[in-house]
Amino acid sequence: MLPTAAGRSNPEGSPSRWTGIGDGRTLGGVGEDVRIVEDNVEATEAWNGPLFDIWFEYQEILTEGTRGHGERALALEPPREGDRVLDIGCGLGDTTVRLAQLVGSRGHAHGVDVAERMIATAASEAESAGVRNVTFATCDVEVTKFDRTFDYTFSRMGTMFFANPVAALRNVRKALVPGGRLNMVVWRRKLDNEFLHRAELVVAEYLEEPEESNALRCGPGPFSMANADTVTDVLLHAGFEDIRLARQDLPYTVGKDLDQAVAVNLAIGPGAEVLRMWGDRVDELRPKIAADLRAALAELVIDGGAVVAASSTWAVTARAPA
Ligand SMILES: C[S@@+](CC[C@H](N)C(=O)[O-])C[C@H]1O[C@@H](n2cnc3c(N)ncnc32)[C@H](O)[C@@H]1O
Repeated sequence: MLPTAAGRSNPEGSPSRWTGIGDGRTLGGVGEDVRIVEDNVEATEAWNGPLFDIWFEYQEILTEGTRGHGERALALEPPREGDRVLDIGCGLGDTTVRLAQLVGSRGHAHGVDVAERMIATAASEAESAGVRNVTFATCDVEVTKFDRTFDYTFSRMGTMFFANPVAALRNVRKALVPGGRLNMVVWRRKLDNEFLHRAELVVAEYLEEPEESNALRCGPGPFSMANADTVTDVLLHAGFEDIRLARQDLPYTVGKDLDQAVAVNLAIGPGAEVLRMWGDRVDELRPKIAADLRAALAELVIDGGAVVAASSTWAVTARAPA
């Protein structure tokens, strides 16, 4: 069945079965058991649960916002025809399919993600679209020793959520052939990413993070690789060389209209995460926060009604030693 924007199925995958094992846990996933390092368990539950639901609901607008950043990074350091490519934290897999097109039928793209529901959707959409040179697997990159090698590895916003990014990126480097290339897109500082930061400021007028919450956190968060020195050091410790960062400033469509922009910003990002942590304890504040957010985002409405904000990423490139 070809999933359509209007009538898409929402795969639940098989129910998650968790069993403790040593320094990690095993998640019963789509047909196989997946080992998750203990420190990534909560983030995995978040990405496989509430964040998957949000990503799935807003897939079109979220992808529209980040596509330009991914494409610019791919133009800067493209894969070669025939390359075997790894896509890290591939989410719903549109970049994996794009990489498969770029490397052509002699090449191959392999998308990995810790959230089995992301992978189930990505695999089903790629299959329905008839893309042949693509595969997907559920895994925690931080504990995965890849059993094959790659010429090139890409990630669009998929490397910022590891509890231990050095361990995860070391596994990626070991999976590359000598001289193999890394190309990853990460958000720069929040001040230059108004579409997320405005919502965070609005929520902060009312609420700080609660001391206690049952809500699941997504890991270190979208700005964990914003600092150029930090990300450079992480890659050096992971064994990469020839590390370069290119700043990419692009307009970002937050919503096709103001209603959608408010809904997306209340669902995803640092402001939304604070709200999620408070849960129903702050229900009486939500209409006020939504109204303030609407006013803050109204300044960003362009002709035609879409809400468009400044956004900025690093395209980070590096090489495994030859
Ligand atoms: C912000 S989303 C980006 C998804 C996709 N690359 C895109 O651009 O739409 C981050 C993704 O990283 C994945 N992720 C987080 N921690 C991970 C880990 N330890 N191993 C593999 N994937 C992980 C999440 O499940 C999520 O799908």
